[in-house]
Amino acid sequence: MNVSTIMVIGAGQMGGGIAQIMAAAGKKTYLNDVNIDIVSKRITVIEKLLTKDVHKGKMTEEQKTDALANLIPSTDQKDAADCDLVVEAIVENMAAKAKVFSNLDEICKPACILTSNTSSLPITEIAACTKRPEQVIGMHFMNPVPVMKLVEIIRGIATSQETHDTIRGLSVELNKTPVEVRDMPGFVSNRVLQIMINEAIFCLYEGVASAEDIDTVMKLGMNHPMGPLQLADFIGLDTVLSIMETMHAGYADCKYRPCPLLRQYVNAGWLGKKSGHGFYKYN
Ligand code: CAA
Ligand code: NAD
Repeated sequence: MNVSTIMVIGAGQMGGGIAQIMAAAGKKTYLNDVNIDIVSKRITVIEKLLTKDVHKGKMTEEQKTDALANLIPSTDQKDAADCDLVVEAIVENMAAKAKVFSNLDEICKPACILTSNTSSLPITEIAACTKRPEQVIGMHFMNPVPVMKLVEIIRGIATSQETHDTIRGLSVELNKTPVEVRDMPGFVSNRVLQIMINEAIFCLYEGVASAEDIDTVMKLGMNHPMGPLQLADFIGLDTVLSIMETMHAGYADCKYRPCPLLRQYVNAGWLGKKSGHGFYKYN
């Protein structure tokens, strides 16, 4: 199936990155969020990132202009009526995602594929909110989207081969490397990554070392580009907590229990870089 018109729902850090690469790849891309200020601010961020790419010689001024012209701000999911594909990238919460998918099912044309960028939630359950479960699939980009090569592709129990092949083909067209994983909580990426992040938070909670020293151990000792606490701030502590809770409930295994310090930070509104305060402070 040819994918030329897309809606990205959620203009946060992930939705912004996904919209940026879709628009740069020549797709007509609606960027949707709950209010126009959020969408406009995100388009300004995208414009800055594209300008950087022009300065680095990664794209021409004309390509940047074309990419920006492909981006259409939206606050009404009804704009998805003419879309071939929707990528949902709202908060990591099943009830919120369920509402979006059942709404989209009413709005979108029959051939439209609905994807979720969820970090951990079951695609099968998201698909069951629609009458087109064969056209629902996980398309899990990594942060920052324009830089990271991986897309985890997750089929729900009813996802068709045709839907899978379209999303795999699109991932390659976007210059990403798709890897198919089974529909299990946290998939592979977060099942492995978040255990490490949670353990780093336990090290801080138990006073084993300072946040800076925990991160330095992993950066200099394991060659990670970011320490786990810095990475947690970068992902968003609300997202990290939601992922841990999904895995804790999904596997019924205490090894996935979220560290109490993580929960306390989220309760305090310390969500990491996006709120200006997490394990570190940001301007
Ligand atoms: N958007 C677009 N481009 C960005 C960017 C952003 N937010 N942040 C950095 N970049 C680009 C820079 O422009 C730069 O590009 P060039 O090489 O063309 O100059 C490049 O990335 C490297 O950036 P910097 O030199 O500024 O900094 P760095 O070398 O420290 O790299 C990083 C930044 C790529 C983010 C690196 O620190 C890194 O790889 N961190 C780990 C990222 C990671 O683990 N991501 C996965 C998170 S988990 C996830 O996504 C799944 C989930 O469900 C939670
Ligand atoms: P974010 O908090 O930066 O952005 C979420 C956006 O969704 C906000 O702008 C919010 O206003 C918007 N939103 C909420 N409800 C909405 C609705 N009903 N309709 C339209 N917009 C709505 O979150 P994020 O980090 O971009 O994460 C988004 C999704 O991507 C989550 O499912 C997350 O698990 C997943 N993800 C996150 C990362 C990461 O590193 N942050 C990586 C991969 C996947």
